[in-house]
Amino acid sequence: MSVLSGKKILLGISGGIAAYKTANLVRLFIKAGAQVQVVMSPASLHFVTPLTLATLSKKPVYSTFYNEEESTGEWNNHVELGLWADLMLIAPATANTLSKMANGNCDNLLIATYLSAKCPVYFAPAMDLDMYKHPSTLDSFHKLKSFGNIIIPAETGELASGLSGEGRMAEPENIIAFLENDVLEKLPLKGKKILVTAGPTYEAIDPVRFIGNHSSGKMGFDIANQAANKGAEVILISGPTHFKIDNPLINLVRVTSAQEMYDACHTYYDKVDVAIAAAAVADYKPKNVAHQKIKKNDATFTIELAKTKDILASLGTIKKNQFLIGFALETENEIEHAKLKIQKKNLDLIVLNSLNDEGAGFGKSTNKVTFIDKNFQIEPMDLKSKEAVALDIINKIIQHYDA
Ligand code: CTP
Repeated sequence: MSVLSGKKILLGISGGIAAYKTANLVRLFIKAGAQVQVVMSPASLHFVTPLTLATLSKKPVYSTFYNEEESTGEWNNHVELGLWADLMLIAPATANTLSKMANGNCDNLLIATYLSAKCPVYFAPAMDLDMYKHPSTLDSFHKLKSFGNIIIPAETGELASGLSGEGRMAEPENIIAFLENDVLEKLPLKGKKILVTAGPTYEAIDPVRFIGNHSSGKMGFDIANQAANKGAEVILISGPTHFKIDNPLINLVRVTSAQEMYDACHTYYDKVDVAIAAAAVADYKPKNVAHQKIKKNDATFTIELAKTKDILASLGTIKKNQFLIGFALETENEIEHAKLKIQKKNLDLIVLNSLNDEGAGFGKSTNKVTFIDKNFQIEPMDLKSKEAVALDIINKIIQHYDA
């Protein structure tokens, strides 16, 4: 999955022959799962049609402040466009457009949108080789870089003038690769390793029966996905669940019993920066597992249970620098019980679910949690989807490393 998936991209096209390549660029963005809003300079309309780009981007294309043919009173709000985007790319960026960007010469919708954009701005210059090296162009590059804009350098090859040299707009595939790489490098959890436990555990009674619980694993899988979206490398240790993973940043380790989950966690724990225990681990397991299927003989049947090892408590005991997050599911005296768990398991943060809250708990797609940190700071959250709760948890980790 591309890191551009789900990103809102504002593509500003200025008037150079390379504008014809933006049709392919839009297609590649869409293929990567991004949303694209195209804004064109008036000059670019000579090189590629808005109809082509609107069809490929599945959105109307804007090139003027208002509809010049019909006086509807509606205008294309450059401020809204600038705020909508996660990322703006100006490609091709001609010498003229670059100069206007550098000097705030706001005479068209594209420049107004650029000046309104709060997101990272990339630009892919395209011009003839001598223009590319002209001190005035270099001055624009310098200024734009000082504004924090990022240049996607031009490539060398045959130019529209018939000359050969540096100045061709980077090929669309290379622009996409540049953006993906840059976005990935700047993700807040880039370089961090996170261990997540998820799902139930099954404790064998005999070869065909087990003790389990209704945990679906959704919360843990959502946490793993959100962590990977922020650039972390994730080791997801999950009990039996039907969820699958399709993300190269997530290493899914499937286990069945609490003991297997314990062993897997201890294998990876000293290599991780963060551990999040979202699994609903069985607290007890049959003391003896029958080797053969147990026959139904007597009217009643008793299984002697023994405590499983508390994985989270063990991780708390051997903790070095790891940021350790646990979950608590409580039905009474929630806050007090959760605080005790923080101390008992040596946690940095606990995510408290109260069964008294409607919409929280097993089998639901929503959750309502309260965060309590090791200093007993309490932060109740609203009822949200489990994905949104997972993102809140990941944001807590980002805050921890930013502090
Ligand atoms: N946990 C664990 N290993 C276990 C049991 C629980 O890692 N054997 C983790 C869970 O993943 C969760 C946290 O511990 O993050 C809280 O578990 P919970 O069952 O609510 O608490 P307990 O400590 O078992 O206490 P209680 O007696 O209240 O059930």
